[in-house]
Amino acid sequence: MSYVTLNVVRGDADTERRTEDYEVPFKDGMSLLDAIFWIREHKEPSFAVRYSCRSANACKECMALVDGKAGYLCSIRAVPDTKVKLEPLPSLPWIKDLATSLD
Ligand code: FES
Repeated sequence: MSYVTLNVVRGDADTERRTEDYEVPFKDGMSLLDAIFWIREHKEPSFAVRYSCRSANACKECMALVDGKAGYLCSIRAVPDTKVKLEPLPSLPWIKDLATSLD
């Protein structure tokens, strides 16, 4: 079985900001948002990420830094046997984990 490793910012304004690695079983066609859903379902139910349309690039809520570049988590495909760094957008107020305020 192949995996994708997500190195993700965790925490919120009241706790220490840190990064954690999660090894996620890879499935053909899975997006980075799908990988985060797997983490929420199997490891961290409280993991915060903003999304709405889930695949259409319509809502633009899932934008984050992916290896240092802004991108939509729902449209960037996971690559097996790689490690991806995910961070909240630095230009928006940080709320928790990958969630930023849209206000
Ligand atoms: S969830 Fe809507 S653009 Fe990604």
